[in-house]
Amino acid sequence: MKGVILAGGLGTRLHPLTKITNKHLLPIYDQPMIYYPLRTLVEAGINDILLVTGGNNAGDFLKLLGNGKEFGLKHLNYTYQEGEGGIAEALGLAEYFSEGDSVIVILGDNIIEKSIKIAVENFKQQGDGAKILLKEVEDPQRFGVAELDGEKVVNIVEKPKQPKSNLIVIGVYMYDSEVFNIIKTLKPSERAELEITDVNNHYIQDNKMTFEVLDGWWTDAGTFESLYRANSLAASGN
Ligand code: G1P
Repeated sequence: MKGVILAGGLGTRLHPLTKITNKHLLPIYDQPMIYYPLRTLVEAGINDILLVTGGNNAGDFLKLLGNGKEFGLKHLNYTYQEGEGGIAEALGLAEYFSEGDSVIVILGDNIIEKSIKIAVENFKQQGDGAKILLKEVEDPQRFGVAELDGEKVVNIVEKPKQPKSNLIVIGVYMYDSEVFNIIKTLKPSERAELEITDVNNHYIQDNKMTFEVLDGWWTDAGTFESLYRANSLAASGN
């Protein structure tokens, strides 16, 4: 299973902080943001990793991370996303790297307290299809919101005005190699991006989606409020 970290975009929601650097290089307490998702993958046993970056200062990632020695890696792979085509478009750039293997994708601004190793092991057992991780939050309208029917996710709605639950889809996704064919069928959304939620709904319709509810705290860090929260969670540990 291969790992993909998505760290592109222009981070416009964080202007002026991101005018001269990439969002994923900003500090979260005592470390650059990108360290957190990278460590989450390595800790889960993933050591063949591609970093997709883009926008401003892409070269700084190479300077900061090199071959990932500090994280116990022998090698790190890099690729570049032009423009802001969305999460699913960025993932599409990993097709060549994946070589027909399954992939775990993590958004570069997702900060997770605990290990996701068991979920990764469970997905390996699953064999094919996809797995998402859900978390209960107080402001679901900011995210992809899951609609459950018993033990099944039956639909995901991206940033709904009236969310049907408090369970949101965090930025960790596991897919079989079929994901790259699904991405090729997507049409841009209202925000002119290829949405990861459309990919996930595709797997739901095919009855090939499983989920787990994440243990421990989680936050994204793409707005001033969530960046501040990420910093205080990372600093205090709760
Ligand atoms: C993205 C996804 C959303 C998901 C969130 C998790 O939102 O589109 O479904 O819940 O990441 O961080 P964005 O950060 O692009 O607004």
